[in-house]
Amino acid sequence: MGAKESGKEDKKAEERKNAKPPEEKKTLEEKKEGKKTGPRPPGELIGVVSGKGGVGKTTVSINLAAALAHEFGKKVVVIDCNIGTSHLGVALGMHYAPHTLNDVLRGKAKLTEALYKHEPSGMTVLPASMKATNIQAVDVSQIKKIAKQLALSYDYVVLDAGPGLGREAFATLFAAEKLLYVSIPTMPSVIDIVRYRQALQGEDKVHLGIVLNMFDGKEHQMSVDEVEKLSQLKVISKVPTDVEVHRSLAAEIPVVISKPKSPAGKELIDLAAKVCGEFEETPKKLKFHEKLWRGLKGADERFDEMMGFDR
Ligand SMILES: Nc1ncnc2c1ncn2[C@@H]1O[C@H](COP(=O)(O)OP(=O)(O)OP(=O)(O)O)[C@@H](O)[C@H]1O
Ligand SMILES: [Mg+2]
Repeated sequence: MGAKESGKEDKKAEERKNAKPPEEKKTLEEKKEGKKTGPRPPGELIGVVSGKGGVGKTTVSINLAAALAHEFGKKVVVIDCNIGTSHLGVALGMHYAPHTLNDVLRGKAKLTEALYKHEPSGMTVLPASMKATNIQAVDVSQIKKIAKQLALSYDYVVLDAGPGLGREAFATLFAAEKLLYVSIPTMPSVIDIVRYRQALQGEDKVHLGIVLNMFDGKEHQMSVDEVEKLSQLKVISKVPTDVEVHRSLAAEIPVVISKPKSPAGKELIDLAAKVCGEFEETPKKLKFHEKLWRGLKGADERFDEMMGFDR
């Protein structure tokens, strides 16, 4: 081997010695590109609650979860916490699930066995059992543990609460970190939200606000202002009564997927945008005098430019 060649070998050996192991190298490259390293932060635990039954919790839960997954590319799991009178699976066309939340709570199935992919939206579903007899020996207090475990792998864990202020509803409340209250614009429904808030006093929760469902602005309905004053919560979404919601229930596909441009579909997609911080206010139309002033200001600037003025 000549001197030139041996020099080459020495250089290579030196390079090999200084070379970083592939993992370390990858980390440095990722750092350079500004990519985050290390474990992902846990996802958000969002409880959809109401007190009063039949006001739209399941509708909001499945559509919020589906829109977060389908429109905003989030990793989402929706849990049917309405163990006693579950409907979430049916609303998504899942009439039978071999393993359910009830089985997981009873220790009869692993959590991963009870997770199902909802193909039309891309979200994951943890259904409850449809059988009335399946509520025996179910420890609902374990829902919190399950939700926390899921938050390690999902961006959003949406918890669809049962009605009333019983054990099941409270298990959902305590499992959630953020609460979305669903109400219709009637006194009994808003009063139940007030009850929930009283029951939660001293608890460390983020109150996202109220989804005012089936709100049509009719004079027999409570106004947004009245709802906000009574509940001491902000109305963050107004979902109108929409026949497409009924149609989507019959078709077993969330309205945000089947009819995203329907009045309810649009509002529920906007709600998801607000929840994940991607909401943009539609630019409001300028009034005539605002347009005029803008035009005049533009003309002023053009005049200054022509004359070389610097204001
Ligand atoms: N914006 C809407 N427009 C029309 N129908 C709606 C709307 N929201 C909900 N509904 C209908 O109202 C009924 C009750 O809704 P949903 O099952 O979501 O209520 P819930 O609060 O989950 O009930 P429960 O307390 O029994 O769990 C359903 O038939 C649903 O399709
Ligand atoms: Mg429900």
